[in-house]
Order: sequence, then structure tokens, then C-alpha cells
Amino acid sequence: MTDVQQDWWRSAVIYQVYIRSFADGSGTGVGDIRGLRSRLAYLRDLGVDALWINPWYSSPMLDGGYDVADYRSIAGEFGTLADAEAFVRAAHGHGLRVIIDIVPNHTSDRHPWFRAALQAGPASRERARYVFRPGQGENGELPPNNWKSMFGGPAWTRVTERDGSRGEWYLHLFDSSQPDLEWGNEEVRQEFLDILRFWFDRGVDGMRIDVAHGMIKHPELPDLPVGEAGEVLAPAESDDHPHWDRSDVHEIYREWRKVADSYDPPRVFVAEAWVDSPERLAHYVRPGGLHTAFNFDYLRAPWSAQELRKIIDQTLDVFHEVGAPATWVLSNHDVERHVTRYGRQVTSAVIASSPPVELGEPDEALGTHRARAAALLMLALPGGAYIYQGEELGLPEVLDIPEAALRDPIWERSGHTKRGRDGCRVPLPWTTHGPSYGFGVNGSWLPQPAGWGARSVQAQQYDSGSMLNLYKEALRLRRDMRALGLGSLEWLPGHGEEVLAFRREPDFACVVNLGAAPVKLLEHNRVRLSSAPLDDGLLPPDAAVWLAV
Ligand code: GLC
Repeated sequence: MTDVQQDWWRSAVIYQVYIRSFADGSGTGVGDIRGLRSRLAYLRDLGVDALWINPWYSSPMLDGGYDVADYRSIAGEFGTLADAEAFVRAAHGHGLRVIIDIVPNHTSDRHPWFRAALQAGPASRERARYVFRPGQGENGELPPNNWKSMFGGPAWTRVTERDGSRGEWYLHLFDSSQPDLEWGNEEVRQEFLDILRFWFDRGVDGMRIDVAHGMIKHPELPDLPVGEAGEVLAPAESDDHPHWDRSDVHEIYREWRKVADSYDPPRVFVAEAWVDSPERLAHYVRPGGLHTAFNFDYLRAPWSAQELRKIIDQTLDVFHEVGAPATWVLSNHDVERHVTRYGRQVTSAVIASSPPVELGEPDEALGTHRARAAALLMLALPGGAYIYQGEELGLPEVLDIPEAALRDPIWERSGHTKRGRDGCRVPLPWTTHGPSYGFGVNGSWLPQPAGWGARSVQAQQYDSGSMLNLYKEALRLRRDMRALGLGSLEWLPGHGEEVLAFRREPDFACVVNLGAAPVKLLEHNRVRLSSAPLDDGLLPPDAAVWLAV
């Protein structure tokens, strides 16, 4: 295998498949492996290099499968292990690599280990795999510390012991059905090395690591600082945070890397790490560590030339220093879709919540316009990129899912104050009409809004001005043009503060207008692609263009 093939991940465009919502091949209303397999030709023709599939393991599905009950079997609603194996082969047959999602920070409370831990009682080997502690207060009635669950409420739940007495508490940084594992425990470490091998042996090309910044906790589990109003704060320095981004987590990844490197071709990792700065993120991708990490600073950035440029520069600098490629991402299954976000007054991303009213009502036409430009910007930057399913169709966030239909645990845990992330997880429309717009032959597990069919693949495929064809054309050019993918960029001066203009060797330039006035383009041979029609040779506001220079 040549170096270029081995290093595919350095410039890959990876398509995120939220499997529940992608395609339903068995008429259950839930997306599955059969449905996904039937759409492989679509993904190949779109022009992506690889797929990242959200968790597909056996799970009670209380957090969309991020609550894993068995890491070595497939959820019945998605298919079987044999289906998964055949799927990986079929994807490879279409020239697509497959990355799956590993969830090492926590298991489901239905995982045999957690059930055994409840049975076994305090001070047992079984409890030592999780983070159990006695409570505070006279009778242990208060949680061991003041940490909060990411989904709302305390990060601790008290168990009832086998004799019926109120017992210890266990830690869960997410839902109470997702107990955190104790990564100081050798048995936990060995188990995950084994799970990696299990899937690598089945041909998967890599793993996306869920909550990669969360596994190591401060051994003393100290309280978080408290603000004046009694609210729990995050310490400013990442290194001091008792449960996020602690330096010891990298030791785990050095071991994982050895496993990945023992395969031919080597398998790859991408970290989901929400950390404070590009510098902290680069720690994850140092030599001997992980390969890549999602660039959430980019995703969180507002639609502002200065902010974006700052993050692009920082990212390229710090990643270059450690020899890792940058990645770019605009949306995923945890944040508001960027068509909606970019149409608001406040355009920076919010994680895991329903956007507060102060962000402003979204203007979808504006957001779509910007999303088109954002796609051309992202795909022109050096390194790899992620596309979240439906982004290529320009899907907006669904903001009006009826409350009774909401599934995200955030809805309950926030006491019905945050609607959660279901709005970006609504099943895809494939056809203009028909039951669930071609998602399946029956309904869909989340209701699709009226008008979804007009955004479908079928509606867009022959429309040269559609979002789908913009993505297709950009991905086709990206494959063809030597200047795109790996490499560096050089900013082109003289375009003003609200314009991003850069050149990539040997013959490419990208100009993005984030200001309010049309801008004049630099001298070029021809326009390769533009997100909006040029206006008398000028680039209109909120538009981007790819030039041959
Ligand atoms: C990650 C996932 C998110 C999940 C959480 C807990 O942030 O992306 O969907 O809820 O981890 O596993």
C-alpha cells in the first residue's frame, strides 16, 4: 500500500451517518444497516471518502445508542453482526472507508458489568469498574460532590443496595442510565483494547472516540468552584478541571495507537474532545497519540471573517507543529444545524440545548445562503472535513417537533426547559412524496415536518442550483484539483476585514465574502465554482467562489 493510500485520513471528507435517521430498510420507522447499505451508491456518487457511523451496538437507546449494553453486538433494530460485517465489505466495495463510534467514557446501566456492580455491593471488584462513592451528609444522603450532568441535574445517582438500604452513589457525566467507567482500573483498559481489536478484525477502518476528553477524573473527585449565585463553574485552566481534558487521558491513547498501528493498513482515530483551545486539542494528536480530532472551535465560530480567520490560523499552526492534519466541521448530531444557526442574529453554535430566544429568530434563506458559502470555504481548507447527513441537502433544524415526540434525554433531565438535540436528527427525506419521504416504507421515529419532500434527494438531484449539486461539484473538484486537500494556504491581502481570500498552490484561490457589500475578485483564469451567481463579476455578500488562478 502506498503512503498516499495509508494517509487517506489526512485529507479525507468523512460523511457522518446518524444511522437511526439515515434510511430505514425494514419498515420499522428506524434507520438501519440494510437501509444504509442500499444507499451506498448515493454516498459514493456524492464523492465522500469515508463514513462515520454513530453507535450501532446493542443498547436500550436512551441516548441514541451512546448508552451501550454490549460493545460486540449490533442493536436488533439496526440489524445483526453479520449485517455489519457484510456492510463493511460492501462499503469497501464502493471505495468508502468505515469509521465506527466507540463509547469508552460510560456504558449503559444495562451493561452486564453495571448489573453485576449493583448486585455485588460496595468495595467489590465489580464496583471498582465504575465510579461508586459513599454519599456525604450524616446518612450519605448528599451526592459525593457538586458535579453536574451534561444533560442537566446532578452527575450522581444513589443506588438501593441488595438488602433494600439506601446505598452508594455512582457518577454519570451524562444521563443516569450512562454510568462512568473507572479508567484507573486495568480491567477497563484491557476490555477496551479488546473491543478495538474486535472491530478492527472485522475490517473497520477507524474509530471516532466519544467524549475523548472525559475518561480520566481527578482521583479525589474535588468539588467544582461555585459562583456567587451558587452556580457550579468550570475552572479556567483545562488542566485543573477535575473531569475534562486531564493530561493522563493521553496515556490511554498511546496504548490505543499501538493497537491501531498493528493492523495493515493501520486503523485511525478521531477524537470527540470539547476542549478550551486549539492548543489543548493539538495535545490529542501528537505523535504516538490519536490521528485527528474534530475541530469544534471551527464549528462554534460565528459567521465572521475575523473570527473564522483567527481559528483557521490557530488550527493550522498548532496542528502543523505536531504533524497532524487539521479537520473542519460545521454540524453534527449534537448541535443546531448550521443552515438555521447561520440564519440567526447570533451565529455561533450552541451545544446540546435548544437555542435561547436571544439568539434571534432564524432567517432560513439567509442561513442557506451562508451555508452554501460555508461549504465551499470548509472544503477548500487544508486537511480533512466532516459532512453531517442532510447537510448536503441544506436541511434546517426542525424547531417545532411536538413535545410528546421528543426523545433526547436532555428534554427530561432539564425539567422540560431544553428541547435537546432531536431537531438535527429528523430522518432524511429521499423522495418528494410517499410515506416518510422515502426514508422507509412506514413512518419515521421522529416526525418529519411538512415540506420535507421539497428538500429531498429526489427534488434536488436534477436541479443544478441545489445544495446537493453544490456539494457534489465541490467534492468532485476537490478530488481532481491537486491544490485541494493536504497542504497549506496563503492569505491574500487587500480584500478588507470582512473577506476571506486565500491561495493554495499551485493554481487555486478561494474568496468568501462575509460582509454586506459585493467585492471585486482578484485576477483569475476562470471561476471553478461559486455558491451564488456573481453580480457583474462581483462576489455578492455571504457568498464564496473557487477560482483557477
Ligand atoms: C457525545 C455524543 C453525544 C452523546 C454524549 C454521551 O457528546 O456525541 O451524542 O450524548 O457523547 O455519550
